[in-house]
Amino acid sequence: MTNHDIVADYNGYDYKKIFWEDADRKYEDAADRLAIKRLLPKKMKNFVDIAGGYGRLADEYLPRAKKSTVFDYSKTELKQAKELYGDKIQTKAGDIYSLPFKDEEFDALMMIRATHHFKDMKTVISELYRVLEPGGIAVIEVANKKTLPRIFRYWTKKTDVNPFKKSQSYLKDLNMYNYHPKYIENLFKKQGFKIKKVLSVSNFRSAKLKKLFGTKNLIKLEKSAQTLLAPVRFAPSIYYQLEKPKFEE
Ligand SMILES: C[S@@+](CC[C@H](N)C(=O)[O-])C[C@H]1O[C@@H](n2cnc3c(N)ncnc32)[C@H](O)[C@@H]1O
Repeated sequence: MTNHDIVADYNGYDYKKIFWEDADRKYEDAADRLAIKRLLPKKMKNFVDIAGGYGRLADEYLPRAKKSTVFDYSKTELKQAKELYGDKIQTKAGDIYSLPFKDEEFDALMMIRATHHFKDMKTVISELYRVLEPGGIAVIEVANKKTLPRIFRYWTKKTDVNPFKKSQSYLKDLNMYNYHPKYIENLFKKQGFKIKKVLSVSNFRSAKLKKLFGTKNLIKLEKSAQTLLAPVRFAPSIYYQLEKPKFEE
């Protein structure tokens, strides 16, 4: 095992159908879109969706960007993106740990629902920083280890994964990593990023809540919860809007 093992190979996996269409995830999809609408620049010259899969969220950035690229390890995902969006989208395959892009190539990028696959976030963040031009914006979603259900499970001794510990947690059954917001924020700052905005996202990600209140009502609640709950960072997804400063401080 190295720090850079590709822990999730989506080649040959129908992520769109199995994860999004066959499961009840309308609320989660809407929550992501609400956050992206708020955090992505309104106008972009050259934009890249890192680990963007089949371009699930392309409708959010295509109207804002002159040129849009989806980058992903999986050729299956990228083929689907091309089938869906044709010439409107460029695709590029590769590995997050050595992005096949030039220094300062993009003025904006995003990376959503991907950190849980990455063991070495320090290298990931330095690669994202490298390909962004000074003054450029990165919107990054982080899989949070310090969620309310996890805190509850820890306090009731149902798990020994301590959600308050700053180090990453590895969920063996799921083969996934979760991160403490403070740990990630520290990495962002050390790299040189300026944290401009933070949102608490997918606050009501629970089958019980969906049943009790209905997806439409949860989406309405989510709208205000994203900003109101941001200071406590308890949601499963924490969204960051980062800026690469124009001048090194
Ligand atoms: C959960 S999907 C998220 C896709 C998209 N961002 C979305 O929100 O719908 C995670 C994506 O990360 C990609 N991925 C996993 N490991 C990778 C790596 N080492 N380099 C590039 N992409 C990777 C997978 O192929 C997959 O498309």
